Amino acid sequence: MSRIPQSFIDDLVTRADIVDVVGSRVPLKKKGKEYTACCPFHHEKSPSFFVSPEKQFYHCFGCGAHGTVLGFLMAHDRLDFVEAIETLAGQMGMEVPREGNNTTQENPHAPLLGLLDECSKYYQGELKRTPKAIDYLKQRGVSGEIAVTFGLGYAPGGYDTLERTFNANDATRDQLKRAGMLSEGEQGRLYDRFRERIMFPIHDRRGRVIAFGGRVLNDDKPKYLNSPETPLFHKGAGLYGMYEARKALGRPERLIVVEGYMDVVMLAQHGVREAVATLGTAVTREQVDLMYRTTTQVVFCFDGDEAGQRAAWRALESTLPQLRDGLDARFMFLPDGEDPDSLVRQEGADAFRARIQAEAVSFDRFLLNELDRQTEQDGSPAARAKLKSLAMPLFQLMPEGTLKDLVFDTLAKHIGTSVTRLQNTGRASKPSESSRPPSTNTPSSTRQSAIRKAILYLLYHPELASEYELDPAWAQSTIPGFALLSELINTLRVHPMPLGVLLEHYRDSPQLKTLDALACLPAPQDSDDEQVRQSMWQDMLNHLATAYSRERLRELTAQPFDQLQAHERHELLRLSSTKNTP
Ligand code: UTP
Ligand code: MN
Repeated sequence: MSRIPQSFIDDLVTRADIVDVVGSRVPLKKKGKEYTACCPFHHEKSPSFFVSPEKQFYHCFGCGAHGTVLGFLMAHDRLDFVEAIETLAGQMGMEVPREGNNTTQENPHAPLLGLLDECSKYYQGELKRTPKAIDYLKQRGVSGEIAVTFGLGYAPGGYDTLERTFNANDATRDQLKRAGMLSEGEQGRLYDRFRERIMFPIHDRRGRVIAFGGRVLNDDKPKYLNSPETPLFHKGAGLYGMYEARKALGRPERLIVVEGYMDVVMLAQHGVREAVATLGTAVTREQVDLMYRTTTQVVFCFDGDEAGQRAAWRALESTLPQLRDGLDARFMFLPDGEDPDSLVRQEGADAFRARIQAEAVSFDRFLLNELDRQTEQDGSPAARAKLKSLAMPLFQLMPEGTLKDLVFDTLAKHIGTSVTRLQNTGRASKPSESSRPPSTNTPSSTRQSAIRKAILYLLYHPELASEYELDPAWAQSTIPGFALLSELINTLRVHPMPLGVLLEHYRDSPQLKTLDALACLPAPQDSDDEQVRQSMWQDMLNHLATAYSRERLRELTAQPFDQLQAHERHELLRLSSTKNTP
């Protein structure tokens, strides 16, 4: 895919106003220098959600949600990064440029995609003229209309149908093989992978065919054959039916995860358009991520047997790290011997929906039920301890937020220990606690808070970056924060950006985490007078210079003098002779 130039993103975010963007989605009230509202990411009665025009940043003190204008669009409108850029650009009447021009450069896989598209069309044509394939689908209850919606086709018998259809030369044969459509036999002979099968094209998010699944018409084995891993297709990365679900529903309120191709197709046939399938593999984090970009609730629908339970557990492990506030995951187990296809055929869509309503349990309930099963809860202290030791690592996977707090309460109640004791044994501190600056007085933490203070102040006043020269040695320093401060000053000198814009600039940088954490801290003590601000800044830098010298002196004296390099000896002498001046 083509890239969007960083300079455009900088420009876009600079021009956008987070107050307008958030304000058009959440009713904001002015409060001092900021705007406030009830948080759109968690349920609350009094507002703890703040938007700062100065920082171009939002922050909820209730659930910890925070970020830039693009981050807000991603979280609120459930968009991925590129979609957020497109939305914001659209709102501002700007056109998104792409680096690298037209199609061949844009997508190195374009030839393979084109070929798969042709294959799919060919199979669809073959379906129309193969009565036994049409009969098979009819007998399973698939209408012509749904067959077209899902692009179902038929791969006829024979070993070289694709080769003949495409009139393939060596290069085309090679590409068909790379696309997973030909298998290689003895002595390198290539032949059609899919023969005499109903074909289910698998689409990417943009609706392009990237792979196929093929089902036999009888009881032959294997029942389903799938494309192998190819440059276009990674099994754990996509979901069957995702494109079709989005096409039918836009942003569905929920997605239902089922196991098979036919489950997705038959649910759609009965009007349940929000089903997607994992294609017989364990649910991956990538798939979960994909779903939560489209919806807020995922219902996992598994067989009731042992294998289904195991699959559900794996799904839970992939889901927990992504359960931010506002998201939900539920688990439903089907009666023995049934799958969504058979159920919806027997009882219809309404009953199937009602079943989800009645039987799907929330993820924390499922977690506890499962742990109880694994630990044979008899209420004894030993059993409770075991339960806790199993539950905590899973619980820790969840991102910080109100949802995590709520699950924590449930967990604590269930295990039957007091919340505080549990908290002491495993819980990461709440965001509000960790965002308080350290109050201990060891030399290194004073130095740390001094550097943090300076960076924070700079983030609020990017124009200060041009005020004073820094010691160039700071840029190479391993003392935490000094290199970052130097780098920020260099960046902000060229382009003094508000915090939210800077964060977008650093989106792919390892420094992002630090900056993000600083962005959530309360505003520094400040003045409206520019001269006062400058002298405050000067004081901070002087203070840091002293701290830097002290730390360097410590570093240098920690090494034997005869192992120091010449310039280090000079530095040491210089530092020792000035160490008593502030
Ligand atoms: P199932 O065996 O439950 O089949 O496999 P199904 O979906 O109910 O199929 P029908 O109703 O008989 O047509 C569930 C999923 O596991 C994968 C497929 O993705 C299938 O949809 N699978 C199954 C394979 O990849 N290969 C197989 O041989 C069987
Ligand atoms: Mn089935």
